[in-house]
Amino acid sequence: MIVSLIVAADRNNGIGIANRIPWRLAADLKRFRELTLGHHLIIGRRTFDSIGRPLPGRRMIVLTRRKDAHFDECQTAGSLSEALLIAREAGETEAFIGGGADIYRLALPLADRLYLTRVDSTNPADTFFPFWDSSEWVEAAQSVHPADERNEFEMTFHLYERRPHPEHEG
Ligand SMILES: NC(=O)c1ccc[n+]([C@@H]2O[C@H](COP(=O)([O-])OP(=O)(O)OC[C@H]3O[C@@H](n4cnc5c(N)ncnc54)[C@H](OP(=O)(O)O)[C@@H]3O)[C@@H](O)[C@H]2O)c1
Repeated sequence: MIVSLIVAADRNNGIGIANRIPWRLAADLKRFRELTLGHHLIIGRRTFDSIGRPLPGRRMIVLTRRKDAHFDECQTAGSLSEALLIAREAGETEAFIGGGADIYRLALPLADRLYLTRVDSTNPADTFFPFWDSSEWVEAAQSVHPADERNEFEMTFHLYERRPHPEHEG
């Protein structure tokens, strides 16, 4: 099973403010939907609160330490490994990690792919994508979407794949 992080971050790596997304980018929402449809989507409890509802067509798993937590039409997990096990046992081929910062931090060491939307702006933010060592990753695809009436800022869609470990290279 491929483990993929999916995130939109600005030039300062800002991803959120006051438990919401700092921008309005219809093209990024569309890309997020297209990539995650039909897959497991693993998110933190604060991100679930921010979205406020289960996303249709996704099998959502909410990470929380609260044993009694219940979220409509979602599964819950008490750890990332439990969440990944749920997805794997369901036959998932690509599980998506949809944030926020706490969950990205947990998942980065395990991730195979990083779908990063780089938002070409700086925004007030209180939540940031964690440091990732770009030397461990190879860019597999890139495309630019301009700002327009439905997209506040220009953005670049990147796909990074984890560089094979030298010992594993043929
Ligand atoms: N730009 C983007 O692409 C993007 C994507 C997602 C989110 N965001 C933004 O990010 C912000 C939210 O991120 P955040 O970092 O504050 O919160 P978060 O990562 O969404 O959720 C944190 C919560 O996850 C649970 N959790 C954390 N570590 C855990 C562990 N090891 N085991 C089990 N549960 C664990 C805890 O829930 P309990 O407190 O219930 O125990 C914790 O309070 C918002 O502003 C949101 O809009 C941005």
